[in-house]
Amino acid sequence: MIPKPHVMFSEAQLAERVRELGAKITEDYRGRHLVLVAILKGSFLFAADLARAIDLEDVRIDFLGLRSYGSGTESSGIVQITHDLTFPVENQDVMIVEDIVDTGLSMQYLLDNLATRRPRSVKICALLQKPARSRVKIDIDYLGFTIEDKFVVGYGLDYAEKFRNLPYIGVIE
Ligand code: IMP
Ligand code: MG
Repeated sequence: MIPKPHVMFSEAQLAERVRELGAKITEDYRGRHLVLVAILKGSFLFAADLARAIDLEDVRIDFLGLRSYGSGTESSGIVQITHDLTFPVENQDVMIVEDIVDTGLSMQYLLDNLATRRPRSVKICALLQKPARSRVKIDIDYLGFTIEDKFVVGYGLDYAEKFRNLPYIGVIE
């Protein structure tokens, strides 16, 4: 049995930060059309909450499933699309919604892939970033929290597919 993860960011802290990110995005995209691209599976809860914190008239939501190959908790940068977008993003303002940028290799793959679809703009909203493990420089436009080099779970993030349903971000000891 894996012990219950201890709290790094509580449900209330997450809600507060997501509200702030949503308000900022609302302000920045006023009068524009926005396509939220939520990266599955990890961002499903974050994206659901963020979408409701964005108060714009024209928001579309699509999902892109990514699987990053690696040994255990280590990313390899070899990424497979497990579920693709359901509509083209050509000439659209795209916001990638991601749970965490760790080495940055998955995000780099994603940026390269999206660029081939000729969107008008691509920005990144990530709940968490672990700068200590960064292997490629990723500019995150809207960032929830910077964290130290700890493996976190909950609020969509998993360890071997477990813990995604925790309402908080926790650390396994
Ligand atoms: P990358 O190393 O930036 O390519 O991260 C790839 C993916 O690994 C992220 O999108 C997450 O889904 C997952 N990941 C990275 N760090 C953690 C963590 O601390 N907990 C859970 N998943 C993680
Ligand atoms: Mg992810």
